[in-house]
Amino acid sequence: MNELESMVASATADFSAAATPADLENAKARYLGKAGRVTELLKALGALPVEEKKARGAEINAAKTQIEGALTARRQALADAELQQQLQAESLDVTLPGRRRGTSGLHPVSRTLERIEAIFGSMGFEVADGPEIENDWFNFTALNTPADHPARSMHDTFYVDMNSADGSPYLLRTHTSPMQVRHAVQHVKRHQALLQVGKAMPEIRVIAPGRTYRVDSDATHSPMFHQCEGLWIGENVSFKDLKAVFGDFFRTFFETEELQIRFRPSFFPFTEPSAEVDIAFGSGPLKGRWLEVAGSGQVHPNVVRNFGLDPERYIGFAFGMGPDRLTMLRYGVDDLRQFFEGDLRFLSQFN
Ligand code: DAH
Repeated sequence: MNELESMVASATADFSAAATPADLENAKARYLGKAGRVTELLKALGALPVEEKKARGAEINAAKTQIEGALTARRQALADAELQQQLQAESLDVTLPGRRRGTSGLHPVSRTLERIEAIFGSMGFEVADGPEIENDWFNFTALNTPADHPARSMHDTFYVDMNSADGSPYLLRTHTSPMQVRHAVQHVKRHQALLQVGKAMPEIRVIAPGRTYRVDSDATHSPMFHQCEGLWIGENVSFKDLKAVFGDFFRTFFETEELQIRFRPSFFPFTEPSAEVDIAFGSGPLKGRWLEVAGSGQVHPNVVRNFGLDPERYIGFAFGMGPDRLTMLRYGVDDLRQFFEGDLRFLSQFN
């Protein structure tokens, strides 16, 4: 092996040994750089006689071309290796399933409230909304509830540490019944002109769903729960109408024609007579069992008076039902508290 051949061999070996592009550029400088071996050989040509110069120059250039070839090949090899490494590091498994956004959905009790509003809406009932922090007048007194009634005790009612204008403390409404009075008073005000000339006002037909609060907590009671109030007042509204409304409502709500309804005598201060409403399904796991679903009654004359109406002329009924309980019955849930614990494993089953 002559001197040039061994130089080409050592350059090729050095290039192969270079593990990174920077190593390779250092190795290149040793041969092709300003002070590199090839460069030195070319410089030395100047000292040779003219006849030798040509042949020697051609040999050196041939060796230089080989070295450059080896360099280019190694550069390419290093670049390929780097690309491979990068591809591997950033590899995508296109067979993996895509990441989806979780779907959202309505709370089961909200679904029930929407159904209640839609069904009563189809029967001509307005939907009213009112404050959850109430005063004593709307929650109790206007509803004919005597001062010594047990519901007014601190064991039953959450009181707010702040007095309303009449000096009694604000409270968290214990039922949606105050909405009877709030809505009726507004309705009467709106139709004052008709009433003043002795004309009949349009009937009051309203439901008022919403949150209510009581000092109570077990499998069937939560300190916060929902109620839906109903009120229908006119000159000729009777229990017969109440029974028809309830029949239509519960059959539509539970999507079954096989449903019985009964009124069971009861007592509420704001209705006289009063009744609990029970339903019984004709099929399904609860078939034949009487289930209490609402309180109701003919609105007490004192309450009608508090509406601003003459109880000799205006008459009607009110009812209050529990949307939480209706939701439990509809979906077969046996612990009310699950609705309000915010556990998505439970709630997502309703979507
Ligand atoms: N407010 C009653 C309660 O919370 C429910 C109720 C009963 C509402 C009879 C009414 C009614 O409107 O007529 O227990």
